[in-house]
Amino acid sequence: MKLAPSILTADFARLGEQVTRAERAGADRIHVDVMDGHFVPNISMGAPVVKSLRQVTRLPLETHLMISDPDFFFEEFVEAGSDSFIVHWEGNNNLHRTIQRVKSLGKPVGVAINPATPAAVLEEVLPDLDLVLVMTVNPGFGHQHFIHSTLPKIRRVRRMIQQVRPDCELELDGGIDPATARLGVAAGADVLVAGSSVFGDPAGVDAAMSRLRAATEDMVNNEKGVLCE
Ligand code: DX5
Ligand code: ZN
Repeated sequence: MKLAPSILTADFARLGEQVTRAERAGADRIHVDVMDGHFVPNISMGAPVVKSLRQVTRLPLETHLMISDPDFFFEEFVEAGSDSFIVHWEGNNNLHRTIQRVKSLGKPVGVAINPATPAAVLEEVLPDLDLVLVMTVNPGFGHQHFIHSTLPKIRRVRRMIQQVRPDCELELDGGIDPATARLGVAAGADVLVAGSSVFGDPAGVDAAMSRLRAATEDMVNNEKGVLCE
């Protein structure tokens, strides 16, 4: 199971230090939530933050674009140091073109679906994807509760991936803590985004990361997507 700390709820006054701590604690990548106040009701960060983070970490910077018209911004983020992109199915009338655009820039591409969006919308684009992100909260904020009704959909996405694109990663985003991490991995997730449970833990980033890892380490994947305890 891979861990991708989300910096949305990190202390921005100490962002570089917090990301370095997460890297030392074994993070597999850093999840950067870009929000434009239009696609979601919040404004977060842009390419300048990616550029600064590029100076302090060698970890992949996964860029989750919760913005209208992501096509206008890929080059700027690539120049700043983004390593991969996640775009939303919602609100994108030209998703196939957007996916091809990211691929033409030589970057891995993922598609995110919100809690109300069925897995079936992925059918046509899944063969081209490196990652599917199942939102386990409604996008826009950290510190929200995991939506348990997304679990059956996670299982469906896992089955679709196995049939169509076995190398595609299945990532969950929102409300991940040690308890929901177990539920998510049992449903078939490969990668977990965690914000407040990593950067908001009073015991610190190291302890928080260890707790998340410990919560799933006894779950072995004996056949991709089929987990047993
Ligand atoms: C929400 C973002 C998430 C968020 C996760 O729209 O996409 O990445 O930061 O934060 P937690 O883990 O606190 O729910
Ligand atoms: Zn995110």
